[in-house]
Amino acid sequence: MKRDPRRALVLTYSQTGQTQLYGRLIAAVLKNDGIKAVAADVRDFDMAALPSFDLVMVGVPVFYWDVPGNVIDALNSAPRLGGVPVASFVTYGGHGGNQHNTARRLLMLLWRRGGLPVGMETFGAMSTFAPTWSMGNEGRILSFRHRPDEETYDRARRYAAAVLDRARRSAAVSYRKEFFPADLIRGGPSIALNKIITGRHTIDASACTGCGVCQKKCPVGAIDLDTFSVDTKRCISCLGCINNCPANAIDMTYMGKKVYGFAEFKKRHAISVSLPKELKRKS
Ligand SMILES: Cc1cc2nc3c(=O)[nH]c(=O)nc-3n(C[C@H](O)[C@H](O)[C@H](O)COP(=O)(O)O)c2cc1C
Repeated sequence: MKRDPRRALVLTYSQTGQTQLYGRLIAAVLKNDGIKAVAADVRDFDMAALPSFDLVMVGVPVFYWDVPGNVIDALNSAPRLGGVPVASFVTYGGHGGNQHNTARRLLMLLWRRGGLPVGMETFGAMSTFAPTWSMGNEGRILSFRHRPDEETYDRARRYAAAVLDRARRSAAVSYRKEFFPADLIRGGPSIALNKIITGRHTIDASACTGCGVCQKKCPVGAIDLDTFSVDTKRCISCLGCINNCPANAIDMTYMGKKVYGFAEFKKRHAISVSLPKELKRKS
């Protein structure tokens, strides 16, 4: 069956902007092909509107070898898609972080809502798992400091074109699961383990400027800025608070060591992310 997609949605969940960047690029590529493409954030998007698009792409970061739990919940609450072409993508840090299986799982979630699977892809980025550099392994992260770059942006461009082509032809795809031992403890069990290793997780009232970024980034409403506290039971250890705080005011320890976030890590190493040409024009 031939289709003529006109309205595409590129929905992303992104804590430190890398997935969002790929999502915006994909939307720009679709727009250049004459599609009315909208790039939106899962947290601001009304899932009831999902079936009003005739191509849906969803992108997430790999967190704890899995699709972030809040995105799983959001997609499971979405209405039936009635055969709308769907595609997934993930961003990941470094190598061997279960990115293939995570992109596949995200695609399966969309397929279970009644979407027609037309693609999945993985894009390398810098790891934002703050304990890694805070514990002295800066080198591991810095070896990917160039990402995202022209090479990974080009993959995204080719992916957007391939998805559109398959959507037009209603050409469904399937992907095999890869053998990945840690798949057994992905998501919840890994988060539980991480919480045991995490010591303090609170807000330093003397450093906090009250800007509210941590609250905005927290996908589970675990931060109370009136009492400068974090509900660590509710927290899903996404590190969105510490990674985005501009004042370095999230007080967290990991195996006894003070953790600092991605914003601070980029500042210390003078890292700036280069934009793809499609987004430069607009910014
Ligand atoms: C809490 C947390 C857990 C992570 N777990 C993984 C993982 O299991 N595998 C992986 O490849 N990368 C992992 N990463 C790295 C992120 O997937 C990667 O940095 C991603 O590009 C961040 O996307 P964002 O900037 O859109 O938030 C993790 C990062 C964080 C903060």
